[in-house]
Formats: sequence, C-alpha cells, structure tokens
Amino acid sequence: MDKKMLKEKPATIYSEQIKREKNDPGEGMRPLPWIVILMLGAMFMWGAFYIVITPSGELTNFGDQRTLSLLEPKVELSGTNSIDGKQVFIGKCAACHQANGLGLPGVFPPLAQSEWVKGDQAILANILLHGIQGQIEVRGISYKGVMPAWNALSDDEIAAVLTYIRSDWTNNEQAVTGDLVKKQRESTKSRQEPYKNVDEIKSGS
Ligand code: HEC
Repeated sequence: MDKKMLKEKPATIYSEQIKREKNDPGEGMRPLPWIVILMLGAMFMWGAFYIVITPSGELTNFGDQRTLSLLEPKVELSGTNSIDGKQVFIGKCAACHQANGLGLPGVFPPLAQSEWVKGDQAILANILLHGIQGQIEVRGISYKGVMPAWNALSDDEIAAVLTYIRSDWTNNEQAVTGDLVKKQRESTKSRQEPYKNVDEIKSGS
C-alpha cells in the first residue's frame, strides 16, 4: 500500500460513520413547547366560555325539539275516575285477548266488534265479575275456554277497562260507570260460580 492512501482513507471512513449515527439520548427536563401550552389554554378558555354562553333548560337547537312534557304519555281518563282503562287492559286482559283486541282464533274470543262488548252493559259487567267456564259464541264462533272472574278489581277499575274495550278497535260505545258495576256486583252476589253458557249469561243473574 502506498503511503498516500493510508493517510487519507481513515478520514473518509470516520466521517461517514459519524454521519449515520444518531445522537446519544440524554436525560433532563423537556418542557412542553410554548405553542402547545398556548393552544391548550385557548381550548380551555373556549370550553369555559361555551358552557357559560350556552342556554340550558330551554328548547335545544339540536335533536327533534321535543321536550320532556311532550314525551310523557297522555293519560286517558275513563269515565268519572282517573283510572286508565287501557293500562288495566294491558296488565290484565291483553295476554289472552291480545293488545289488538282480536284474541286468538278458536282460543280467546275477540273483543273488537264483539256483540258482548258492544251490547248490554250490565251483562258485560257480569261477565267480568264472575267469569265464564263453559261455552260462549262470539261473532259466530263458539269458544269453550276459561275466562277468569275479575271480582278482585274495584268497581272503578272494571268500569275503566270496560269503557276502554268499548271504545278501541273501532268499537264506539258509551262509557261504563263505576256505579253500574257496583249495582251488578250487588245484584249478582248470590252467584258462586262462573257462567257456563250463553243462557246463563243472558239470564243476568
Ligand atoms: C286467561 C285468559 C283471559 C284473560 C286474562 C281474560 N280473558 Fe276474557 N275471555 C277469555 C276466554 C277464554 C273467554 C271466552 C270464554 C269461553 O270460551 O267460555 C273470554 C271472554 C271474554 C268476554 C266475552 C266474550 C267476548 O269476546 O266479548 C269479554 C267481554 C272478556 N272476556 C273481557 C275480558 C277483559 C276485560 C279482561 C281483562 C280484565 C279479560 N277478558 C281477561 C280469556 C281471558
């Protein structure tokens, strides 16, 4: 090797190696850059400002503009009392007669357009007070099932539910009063068992 090369080469090699090395990591406090602190401060102030200027408890400009009172269910008052007949129906009757009042064909008779529901109020109240265990025809179809007695309900509750079933599903009949139910409870109190057939129901006792 000639002398010149020996002298030059190391210098070139070192500078290339130094160039591709990264600095050694060092320890120490590195404060957030002031621009980040400034931005955080600005965002915080905007947030506080926004909360202060935003009106609360009023109609919001977002959503569909409904207020709580609009979402509360309307209570339909039945008859002269404040019992919601529809609620009684949903709770006590809909399991069998169905929410649409159509019952289940062959098993539970319909209340919609039923001649019993639309007919004589006293007989209808009797059906509720004593139940049916036997046979009844409704809209031309014969049913042979069990309708429980609802004498545990108060006069007003029975009146409310009857008023309801007489006024929904295209039924459009007069309301039933608690007084009428009370009268029927009195006049049929000697009956110990459910009605067995249409004749018994129609006898009114
Ligand atoms: C366990 C099921 C059941 C429940 C609950 C029930 N019913 Fe009935 N209901 C019947 C059956 C079954 C008949 C028909 C009786 C038969 O087949 O002999 C009937 C008959 C009737 C009838 C006379 C027939 C007609 O379709 O018009 C009326 C009115 C009536 N139910 C109203 C109600 C009301 C109001 C309630 C709630 C307070 C109620 N029922 C709860 C099963 C039920």
